[in-house]
Amino acid sequence: MEKDFIMEKRIHNFNAGPAALPLPVLKEIKENFLNFSESGMSITEISHRSTLFEEVINDAVDRTRRLLNLDDNYHVLFIQGGASLQFCMIPMNLALPGSPVNYINTGTWSAKAIKEAQIQGKDIRVIATSEDKNFSYLPTVYTVDKQASYLHFTTNNTIKGTQWQQFPDGQSVPLISDMSSDFMSRPIDIKPFGLFYAGAQKNLGPAGIAMVIIREDMLERVPDNLPTMLKYTTYKDNRSLFNTPPTFAIYVIGMVLKWLEETIGGLKEIERINKKKASLIYKVIDNSEIYQGTTEANSRSMMNVTFRLPDEKLEKRFLVGAAKNGLNGLKGHKSVGGCRASLYNAVTINSVRSLVEFMNEFEKKL
Ligand SMILES: Cc1ncc(COP(=O)(O)O)c(C=O)c1O
Repeated sequence: MEKDFIMEKRIHNFNAGPAALPLPVLKEIKENFLNFSESGMSITEISHRSTLFEEVINDAVDRTRRLLNLDDNYHVLFIQGGASLQFCMIPMNLALPGSPVNYINTGTWSAKAIKEAQIQGKDIRVIATSEDKNFSYLPTVYTVDKQASYLHFTTNNTIKGTQWQQFPDGQSVPLISDMSSDFMSRPIDIKPFGLFYAGAQKNLGPAGIAMVIIREDMLERVPDNLPTMLKYTTYKDNRSLFNTPPTFAIYVIGMVLKWLEETIGGLKEIERINKKKASLIYKVIDNSEIYQGTTEANSRSMMNVTFRLPDEKLEKRFLVGAAKNGLNGLKGHKSVGGCRASLYNAVTINSVRSLVEFMNEFEKKL
């Protein structure tokens, strides 16, 4: 294991979320915790109306703008309630009266988003689904309703391990996307998007908050009669400070973005690293007699590598053995079983190399 890991008694963390955060960021938080920015207080004790906190939130927003190359047409919002609240806020705020909403269903998270629109009685059309093959691939054939309010899809299915490499074509319909499990893992072309969002607990920071990027014209759709806290305009007009926001989470997000921008060098560079990490594990799977990938090769995720062993007994042995070697969080989601290595931005190439070594050794010893 790396020297730092041993000294800090850290393990190799392959959790799906909440997930690994960059070690230098965690260390800096620890060092500054009791006396944030010479204030004599911890970040958790200062007012969200103070200049100090204004600097924290502005810095997080500015870094997001630079990393994603956002123009003034886009707003960066912090909203509590995780990604799941967005499933509900999107149809509530952005479905136009008399116009259908389009969804692509690629598994659990898309299905949850669809359900929230259904609850609100929206005119939903699921224009494509990969349910016929248990969500092991991404559908490529679909027709978008010309009049649709938006087309919603999930960029990365955390549970099944699929990821869109080329986003669906919304034609002139605005795209809306749940990017929770691959946000900031690669550069994206933001122009077709009316809104995209991510629960923070994978690539950004602590759980319980979502980052929402919304285009100016979408704000015009927000109905007047929604509850204040459920309107995107409330967050935009008050720069996410209408009420007391999760200040600690925003602070950590800002630090993670600083690490991504300054230490890593931005999204192109993290994409290069992420591709390298994923290819190391997929190489083991592709050359193995016992590890079997669960998704079609052209739909594979760089963030969540899912695989099975020949039987559940062997899977259990694999997981126990891995944990004994400091390799944690490799159990697949409870709804699908099997194994999953989540390789988010903060998971180091050394952690991945340790996993590769263990996988090869495990197979050799059988
Ligand atoms: C793709 C995706 N969307 C949404 C969620 C739900 O996020 P939250 O728990 O923040 O509501 C998850 C799970 O963590 C996820 O992986």
